[in-house]
Amino acid sequence: MAIDPKIQQVREMREQARLGGGQARIERQHAKGKLTARERIEKLLDPATFREIDTFVTHRTTGFGIEDQKYLGDSVVTGWGQINGRSVYVFSQDFTVFGGSLGEVHAEKICKITDLAMKNGAPVIGLNDSGGARIQEGVVSLAAYAYVFQRNVMASGVIPQISAVMGPCAGGAVYSPAMTDFILMVKGTSFMHITGPEVVKAVTREEVTSEELGGAMTHSTVSGVAHFAVEDEDEGLALLRLLLSYLPQNNTEDPPFVPTDDPADRTDDELNAIIPDSPHKPYDMKSIIERVVDDGRFLEIHEHYARNIVVGFARLGGFGVGIVAQQPQILAGVLDIDASRKGARFVRFCDAFNIPIVTFEDVPGFLPGVAQEHGGIILHGAKLLYAYCEATVPKITIITRKAYGGAYDVMSSKHIRGDVSYAWPTAEIAVMGPDGAVNIIFRKALAEADDPDALREELVQEYREKFANPYVAATRGYIDDVIEPAETRPRLIEALQMLQNKRDANPPKKHGNIPL
Ligand code: HXC
Repeated sequence: MAIDPKIQQVREMREQARLGGGQARIERQHAKGKLTARERIEKLLDPATFREIDTFVTHRTTGFGIEDQKYLGDSVVTGWGQINGRSVYVFSQDFTVFGGSLGEVHAEKICKITDLAMKNGAPVIGLNDSGGARIQEGVVSLAAYAYVFQRNVMASGVIPQISAVMGPCAGGAVYSPAMTDFILMVKGTSFMHITGPEVVKAVTREEVTSEELGGAMTHSTVSGVAHFAVEDEDEGLALLRLLLSYLPQNNTEDPPFVPTDDPADRTDDELNAIIPDSPHKPYDMKSIIERVVDDGRFLEIHEHYARNIVVGFARLGGFGVGIVAQQPQILAGVLDIDASRKGARFVRFCDAFNIPIVTFEDVPGFLPGVAQEHGGIILHGAKLLYAYCEATVPKITIITRKAYGGAYDVMSSKHIRGDVSYAWPTAEIAVMGPDGAVNIIFRKALAEADDPDALREELVQEYREKFANPYVAATRGYIDDVIEPAETRPRLIEALQMLQNKRDANPPKKHGNIPL
């Protein structure tokens, strides 16, 4: 049977749209080790679930010859689909059309998808690969960006927003990903910077490559802008699917409950011996987390940045949780500027999306030093304190070893609405460590002693027995129980069950004033 010409027309137009900027540019994209916008969507979503919209949109710009260059769909592919059977909205910038640059209609498509995601309470994922503002559109493209930025802010805390940067992302364009919840970058093929190496050289005379200035590892280790750095796009797209499995669809839902064969009453005797005898010796907090959570699965966020604090998602008895933990292996797990910022951002994400927070604490305090003070540790440390104080989700703390000074208060203590606080018998809860304390309160006696070292030793021992244990806090009810490390998993799961219907609220206000 002959095909109706009108049917034929729509088929041909759709086929043309699928080619984006044309076969030659697709090949150029592949030669750079990059997938096309549509290939990325296919790999990201469950098979055959993508429904594209706005396929026939074209730009309305004239001048510089652009009026003769129109591509169906313009430079971004948008639509919805599913990940692990759950609804998501996606936009994927098409570098083969005007270098994925963002003009009026490109932004309109992103805004439409974001509005749909907001109305329907599902995450939005942006796959970024763009030369930035479409130069031929001038100020119109700047306005277009602003509409996207405004959407990002309105959606913040309502639906999860995730950005994968899979190519260039430069100039003001970086601010849309920056206002989303998570940024993933691909090593070698993606970069983010406000101004490129040439402008940097002209202004500051610094010589730097794009990769050094704003590549995946730079933003994962130095600036903290990126939460994930992956080897290639396939790994990145799989990681986005995994990340979403821990998140609720929106701020009115709880994170998915995922039943597990890992027994809720599983104890682990090796945990009883995991804390070294010497308080100065490090141990790996991640190994404790992995021993405790369901099936040993822990998705670490910001793995390479401020490694003295560890944050990420896991499940306990099927309940999704966010974990915040000190890492004694790095800088003794001290809280510094970067760790405070990293922790605060994660705590606020969890609180916005109803994800209970489990804190593993071994903190010697805030990091002393001129650089820290001048860098604003007061301000940045306050971010973490503010975030924990503000959070109304279930908050459970395990003090494994040190809980010293202000950091004891900050790390989800009961005094700032921590719900359940447990300490291991190895916990030391005090204003400061024994050595520092003895040096201060017995300064005079030590100066006058015949044998100051022997006296110091004796006083340190006395202080340790008196304060450097969990029992002073326990007698006051500042911790709810001293538990055996081996039973940490069952005790955490019981606590999560107990807190399942927790209700708590903050006073009505427009918004607080977190110390930014
Ligand atoms: C229009 C653009 C474009 C842009 C690239 N193209 N960027 N078209 N507006 N901003 C087009 C090119 O003309 C080319 O078209 C195609 O995309 C691919 O570009 P190439 O340069 O051939 O690719 P490549 O060598 O991979 O380099 C990619 C690039 C480079 C690094 C992104 O194109 C580049 O530097 N572009 C300009 C980036 C920029 O300065 N953008 C403005 C930033 S200011 P053909 O037809 O040959 O395929 C900004 C402000 C935002 O974004 C403010 C928001 C508030």
